[in-house]
Amino acid sequence: MFEIRHRDGTARIGVFEVNGKRVETPLLMPVINPNIIEIYPEEIKEKFGINAIITNSYIIYKDMDLREKAVRDKLHGLLNFDGIIMTDSGTFQSYVYGDVDIENEEIINFQREIGSDIITILDIFSTPQDKYEDALMGLEKTYERARRAKEITDGIIAGPVQGSIYMDLREKSAKLMNSLDLEYYPVGGVVPLLESYRYSTVSEIIVNSRLNIDFSKPMHLFGAGHPMFFSIAILLGIDFFDSSSYIKYARDLRMIFPDGTRYLKDMEYFPYTSPYIEKYSPRDIMEMERRDSVGIIARHNLYMAVDEIRRIKSFIREESLWEYVEERSRSHPALYQALKTVGKYSDLLEEHEPLYRNHPLFYTGNETLDRPIFSLMKKRFYNNYNYKRKSCIIADENDLDKIKGVYGEMDAHFIIRTMFGFVPYEYLYVYPYMQAPRIQDMRNDENLNDILDHLDFEYLISWIGGFPENVESYSRYLCRENRDPDIIVRCAIADYQFGHDACRHLFDGDIKLIKSKNTGMIRNIMRDGKHILSVRNDGLYTLKIEGARILHKNFVYPRMRVVVSGDSEKFNRMGKNVFGKFVVDMDHSLRPRDEVLIVNENDELIGVGQTHFSFREIRGMKKGMAVEIRETLLF
Ligand code: GUN
Repeated sequence: MFEIRHRDGTARIGVFEVNGKRVETPLLMPVINPNIIEIYPEEIKEKFGINAIITNSYIIYKDMDLREKAVRDKLHGLLNFDGIIMTDSGTFQSYVYGDVDIENEEIINFQREIGSDIITILDIFSTPQDKYEDALMGLEKTYERARRAKEITDGIIAGPVQGSIYMDLREKSAKLMNSLDLEYYPVGGVVPLLESYRYSTVSEIIVNSRLNIDFSKPMHLFGAGHPMFFSIAILLGIDFFDSSSYIKYARDLRMIFPDGTRYLKDMEYFPYTSPYIEKYSPRDIMEMERRDSVGIIARHNLYMAVDEIRRIKSFIREESLWEYVEERSRSHPALYQALKTVGKYSDLLEEHEPLYRNHPLFYTGNETLDRPIFSLMKKRFYNNYNYKRKSCIIADENDLDKIKGVYGEMDAHFIIRTMFGFVPYEYLYVYPYMQAPRIQDMRNDENLNDILDHLDFEYLISWIGGFPENVESYSRYLCRENRDPDIIVRCAIADYQFGHDACRHLFDGDIKLIKSKNTGMIRNIMRDGKHILSVRNDGLYTLKIEGARILHKNFVYPRMRVVVSGDSEKFNRMGKNVFGKFVVDMDHSLRPRDEVLIVNENDELIGVGQTHFSFREIRGMKKGMAVEIRETLLF
């Protein structure tokens, strides 16, 4: 049904398939009101490349004429569209008009009867003004209705998450709906929030919903049609949007642009263009017949939304969506506030964060430090970094070359001040520090105390004001025997990547670092003549099968493991990748792209590879590859 092809943070590019029809996500489904169609579904498919629309079954049901046609010709005949048609239930009408005279079962059966591809239950719309008790009652009723829907239909059911602005209720609602194992999860009750630019609250609602719904299920944000909010919503895990804004705004001669909306009458020039307006000035369109100007603006508006989604997909592919969201957040204070709010969740979001990305990390402002990668790094540092040294020296990044000269001789932790905050010297050799372009003289100091609390040392020395002229005067902190600085760094990185005692096990023997002849960079690590690790361009390791054997022997189950079922083992041993549905268990602390030990249900090592997903993303996965196998052991 839903296969995740690419990911970036909690954003994904997926393929959603229903009744033999497929679409790629993230996707905007244009709203079609069968009574007044401005852009016909055919044009939506052909000109805009969108193979899914959403319409309202309640509107059809209430109109005798439409209802008869829909029952006779089915929805796809009525709308002359062979793509995916999702139907809504009348819930939104109940919010706008107060009440609707239809029952949950009746509207579900009707949607089924007319051949809807995705059937929406009659959920209880929770408004931001709802009292806590009412919102709670509403979400419980919504859950009951979804449960009933599952009993009476075998179609694809959309079960909205409700709960007003109460995050614990959103969480509760998401958990309840998730327990029903539906195929499709909209987030409902957000239209009034979006209309009043409460993007921060909506972002929090998305996070609290997304983290409690299976990652293998698609999520939809009901009624979010403005492209301004797409990137942050997608970053937080939204796969579908629906929108009538393109046409509603057009009727008021309002135009959608990536950074906001503008009235046609207020513009002398267009700040952005589209194929629908490039030949005209605002005045030209003002002077047209109203029908024509509405037609042009509706198409332009839809184009802007489609264009933004295309752009976001390209950023997911190059793994730079965070940068884009940060850039977008500068265009409106409400978006900026939303991003700051998302930052508060970085401890939770880091579960889906890889230790590295293909795209170098760009610092775009203070909020970059709130990205989940820094939460992940911090956790790995505090849990895994385990040397007890006599001193802790804090120094500035500018003095790095000088620090390198004394690093192996000093019995000290070196903590370096960078624009990403203070970090252990060793971590400067991995993503993101390694590749991130630096801004001269930019430093962030906030995390120093926190770091010092987590280290073990007797003396604290600061070289922040300048590197000492006479390092010999620090002789009481020198090592008795010189250690190979490369080995200390590589050891710390092994712990960072694989866990606190990884280095102790991996480096226990005669260690040789093999360097590139051209660059002098360390490329391979040999232990007792066996190749155990390779060093990648991001500074992290590729675990070789000989290294995997060592960790498998020394790490207690389920650490670093992905356990595959018996059906899969034979294929995996032959080098075939692991499909998500064959994963029986997995170390919950693994992050996407982590190196993993692939084992069978008896914990016998099958091979070594890289997981593409976190535990929660793989759980429930029905389709698609989950773990890439690199080296295997035949029986
Ligand atoms: N359209 C916009 N918001 C909602 C919602 O909360 N529920 C349903 N069913 N449709 C919507």
